[in-house]
Amino acid sequence: MNGMHVNDRQGPVADTAPASAPVSLATPPLSLYVHLPWCVRKCPYCDFNSHEGRGPLPFEPYVDALLADLDFDLPLAWGRTVQTVFFGGGTPSLFPADAIDRFLQAASSRLRFAPGCEITLETNPGTAEHGRFGDYRRAGVNRLSFGIQSFDDGCLQRLGRIHDSAQAEAAVKLAQDAGFDNINLDLMYALPGQDLAMAGRDIQRALALQPAHMSHYQLTLEPNTVFAARPPPGIPDHDASWDMQEHCQQLLAAAGHAQYEVSAYARADRRCAHNLNYWRFGDYLGIGAGAHGKLTLGSEQSILRRWKLKHPAAYLAHAGSAAAIGGDETIGPVQRPFEFMLNALRLVEGFSLAQFEARTGLPRASIGPQLDAARMHGWLECDGGRVRPTELGRRFTNDVVELFLAEQD
Ligand SMILES: C[S@@+](CC[C@H](N)C(=O)[O-])C[C@H]1O[C@@H](n2cnc3c(N)ncnc32)[C@H](O)[C@@H]1O
Ligand code: SF4
Repeated sequence: MNGMHVNDRQGPVADTAPASAPVSLATPPLSLYVHLPWCVRKCPYCDFNSHEGRGPLPFEPYVDALLADLDFDLPLAWGRTVQTVFFGGGTPSLFPADAIDRFLQAASSRLRFAPGCEITLETNPGTAEHGRFGDYRRAGVNRLSFGIQSFDDGCLQRLGRIHDSAQAEAAVKLAQDAGFDNINLDLMYALPGQDLAMAGRDIQRALALQPAHMSHYQLTLEPNTVFAARPPPGIPDHDASWDMQEHCQQLLAAAGHAQYEVSAYARADRRCAHNLNYWRFGDYLGIGAGAHGKLTLGSEQSILRRWKLKHPAAYLAHAGSAAAIGGDETIGPVQRPFEFMLNALRLVEGFSLAQFEARTGLPRASIGPQLDAARMHGWLECDGGRVRPTELGRRFTNDVVELFLAEQD
């Protein structure tokens, strides 16, 4: 046991290690994110890099582009093992299973996939086709994430969704019949016209489908969306939204889905390994239009962020060459504490100081003053080398993270 205790507000956190202990960046687990950028229709609240598909979509040329893109990035990850793969969008379930199969086969011949590698595909219930889920499974996908948003047909209409609640339930059952047992359901709350009881009913209907995992996002008005330009009437205010979150959190906990991140709930053995790797400041290759990657380059003791051209047509034209790189940026030592906290403080489990050192290459003493300040506010608790956000801290995550923002000259 080192010098820190829960509710011990006396001693400085940084006294847990000699200030001068030498620390170096260790290579964290590696994930692979694959962005598939098309949707049937653009939802009015959505600011993801997603584009309404007009006419037949270029599935095969896009898979070729993904593989060329992966080849271009491979030198950043030589010899490393991929722990998780995530097909995100957009609506990846628009892609036929043989395109997903071709990508996975070719990718796993270029990079070693860990045994039992979690492979997730995001799915819009409005694109569920009979037979397709079985084919995804045979291609190697072992986890599905459904964008449900709500089971209230009025809410779904106001959100501009292409499916109703019956279609959503049928799609999930179709996937279960095809053998998927690792299923996430995305729900949003604080929807236009929604009250506490309606938010609770959405959770109950989701739980009736017995998903392994639930994501519960507060609807946010993102800049440059239709909703930001013309906010729909009846959006619940901050307090009402907080009440909904608390109420739903309790319903989920009672059904065995413990909250483990700001918006994520699951039984302990069904937490999303891919997202956990992001939140633990792990590494990921980002392949596809607008995809972001983060790689620790151990030999150079540096961390690189790389992102790809956003627009599908430009990406298709340049994938596999330097012209497809939207930008490269080094996360320097000064920025690393903020970047680390932005992720780690989303987790209920928080982080260990040893992990902070390994993932940032910085000694724990470098964040001692900020940890002390956060503890004084009652935002963080520190125990046995582990730092966890308190309930208050989770309510004010932005304020807590801001403490770690480096002062600019
Ligand atoms: C990239 S989408 C993937 C799912 C799929 N495209 C769909 O919508 O059916 C990921 C999830 O982010 C959430 N999301 C998107 N925009 C949001 C917003 N403005 N506020 C809160 N959550 C949002 C939705 O729950 C959505 O399912
Ligand atoms: S289907 Fe999903 S990714 Fe596509 S526009 Fe709607 S929320 Fe965004």
